Amino acid sequence: RHGAHHFLVTEQDIAKRYRRRPQDSHKGSFGRVGVLAGSPGMYGAARLAVEGAYRAGAGLVYYFAPEDLSDTWVSGFPVEAVVKRYAGRAGVWNVDAIASLLALFAQVDVGVIGPGMGRSMQDSPEALLALAQLPIPLVLDADFLQVVAASEDGGVTFFEHRKHLTIITPHPKEFAQLIKRPTSVVQENRLLYAKEYAVKTQTIVVLKGAGTVIATPEPAVWINSTGNSGLATGGTGDVLAGLLGGLLASGYGAESAALVGVYVHGKAAELACTTQYSQESLVASDLFAWFGTAFRQIS
Ligand code: APR
Ligand code: MG
Repeated sequence: RHGAHHFLVTEQDIAKRYRRRPQDSHKGSFGRVGVLAGSPGMYGAARLAVEGAYRAGAGLVYYFAPEDLSDTWVSGFPVEAVVKRYAGRAGVWNVDAIASLLALFAQVDVGVIGPGMGRSMQDSPEALLALAQLPIPLVLDADFLQVVAASEDGGVTFFEHRKHLTIITPHPKEFAQLIKRPTSVVQENRLLYAKEYAVKTQTIVVLKGAGTVIATPEPAVWINSTGNSGLATGGTGDVLAGLLGGLLASGYGAESAALVGVYVHGKAAELACTTQYSQESLVASDLFAWFGTAFRQIS
């Protein structure tokens, strides 16, 4: 325990929150995740988020791809992914693109938005507003958070328009942009700023980095105890965003999804680095093989 309301997340905390899958369940029981991510040169981020959502137990994961995304890229996605096309070209957020995206989000239970998606949405406040108003839980990450941070009032209006559950997963630099303070200041006061922002925006803030902080609008703040510097490699954050989406879709509450997802993500890195890989050699997609062991340890 770190002071009155701060908790170091333990394996027992996570085991208590683990949700066993009922024997008589079917894929409809575990929900659909829609992933809006990737951009030219960064479709790998989307791929990692899609698989992350599946590995957390989502029933179905849809990848929302622009019409001009080549079939070669699509074929690199997990074969389990359901690819749904929205109107227009990558990075063009006009009326048609927005309308078709909204129609696609209407088919899913949870959205994961942001990994590798670029910042072109900065020029379309209409698209930003439309996504804010989505009536489903959202996990917001990476480039999308930077777009929110760059919007006119630093994202305050965006979060005011959010009427449904939201988990944001900034790394320290992204969080620094959201709260308009230097990264070094953020890092000296991670608990405080994460909590303040969670209250102000009524979101769950997952402030990443060694000792990931999970803050909700309620008094408690958690510090994750798993993970290692093997995770300091491109794409591990995209995997986490997908995992959280998958946990939400399969029935975890927001707080449990954040805590269990971050814990399991770190645990997978530990398992990978004490067996087949090392902290140097681990890459993001290696994590997928270890989520099974990580989940079994808490079940
Ligand atoms: N100990 C524990 N966990 C760690 C550590 C560490 N030393 N270092 C990183 N992690 C974890 C974080 O907590 C987080 O879950 O690894 C993940 C890294 O996520 P991101 O920072 O979002 O990284 P990612 O998006 O995968 O890749 C780097 O970030 O700066 C941007 O644009 C840049 O595309 C690049 C991306
Ligand atoms: Mg990231």
